[in-house]
Amino acid sequence: MTLFKKESSLLQSLTLPCGTVLKNRIAKAAMTERLAGKNHYANAKLSHLYGKWSDTGAGLLITGNVMVDKRFKEASGNIVVEDESGLKAMQEMTKEGTRNGNHLWAQISHAGRQSTIFSTFKPIAPSAVQLKKMMLFAKPKAMTEAQIEDVIKRFVTTASICKKGGFTGVQIHGAHGYLISQFLSPKTNLRTDQYGGSIENRSRVLFEIIKKTRQAVGADFPIAVKLNSADFQRGGFNEEDALYVIEKLHELKIDLLEISGGTYENIVFLTKRSERESTRKREAYFMDFAEKIRRVTKIPLMVTGGFRTIDFCEQVLDNNELEMIGFARPFLADQSFPSSFVNRDSERISDAKFNFKIKQMADFAEAGFYDYQIHQLAKNKPLKPNYSPTIGILRFLKNELVKGWF
Ligand SMILES: Cc1cc2nc3c(=O)[nH]c(=O)nc-3n(C[C@H](O)[C@H](O)[C@H](O)COP(=O)(O)O)c2cc1C
Repeated sequence: MTLFKKESSLLQSLTLPCGTVLKNRIAKAAMTERLAGKNHYANAKLSHLYGKWSDTGAGLLITGNVMVDKRFKEASGNIVVEDESGLKAMQEMTKEGTRNGNHLWAQISHAGRQSTIFSTFKPIAPSAVQLKKMMLFAKPKAMTEAQIEDVIKRFVTTASICKKGGFTGVQIHGAHGYLISQFLSPKTNLRTDQYGGSIENRSRVLFEIIKKTRQAVGADFPIAVKLNSADFQRGGFNEEDALYVIEKLHELKIDLLEISGGTYENIVFLTKRSERESTRKREAYFMDFAEKIRRVTKIPLMVTGGFRTIDFCEQVLDNNELEMIGFARPFLADQSFPSSFVNRDSERISDAKFNFKIKQMADFAEAGFYDYQIHQLAKNKPLKPNYSPTIGILRFLKNELVKGWF
């Protein structure tokens, strides 16, 4: 059965620098699934979920955070890959998740100071700078050089096992305030050794991971990076820093750069709008920054955040502003996305609205709401757009608590 019935620039294939071909320009961006059990392996629910997402026709699926160390997770239900013990379950998941000739990449990550108290009371980070949000994060310990070397090795090990487990590429998570992003930001990285200070030093961990991962997975295996355009924090990682990192990533021949922005302190990756008057009417986030990247490098580029109309998506591809478009929440707003979108049955995707007075509660309401939708899909149940965000908060906290502590 043909899913896509109209011609669209979203349906053109893309050849990456490593030679891999993506069948179209539609990417399902990372969304943490929180579906793994106590062993943190892939499982039947994850296999089912990724099988369903493969059936949508998207050319690229990127998993949610896959952690390199079970002590420092983003959420209690994350997949963790430290060794090959979960390989069989992973192979099952990747078989389902690639059943339509699409790619399935693992997003490899370490939460650092953004590891909640449900995972650890002793997080590690570049420096002992605590994340103060709803008392959910303990004060981290500054990492020793040996711990930094261990983390670099873990990223490489996880990437190699993911390749063996059938993932067709990896994405290194360098955005949203997780460990690599903590190294990149002068606000969270106060080190005075070779990993702190200048942007050259702050980006050392990321570059070491890329170089060593490339050696381990070979020249023809896609390696992508998700990077913030900026943290949107005073004294944090800024666009000038990001442009330096991007030029180097181009030299290191990564295959795809995904641009996002923000951290848990300012979740602009879910809310950002363009700041320039001339471009504010452009719906997607970070497009102003994509323009700046284009001026300095030709790195294959994907932006995620806020793409909601088919006309706008086609326009940015036709203008060669981007090579790929990342969508996250649209995959949870309409089960027939992206075919209904490309076929112009629904030319605009609408987001759920969360009107919580306390901003931080709104973050949790949103997390709880979307978490529930993902779990519905994984259980082969329909999406529920009228699900109560208040119940979402309670459900989310209960799940983290039960999976994390009991
Ligand atoms: C429920 C949910 C979970 C997310 N989990 C992750 C994640 O694990 N890793 C990541 O890089 N981004 C994550 N994000 C951010 C998305 O990848 C994306 O950057 C953001 O939702 C903006 O895109 P959108 O406007 O198309 O939703 C998540 C977003 C949502 C809504």
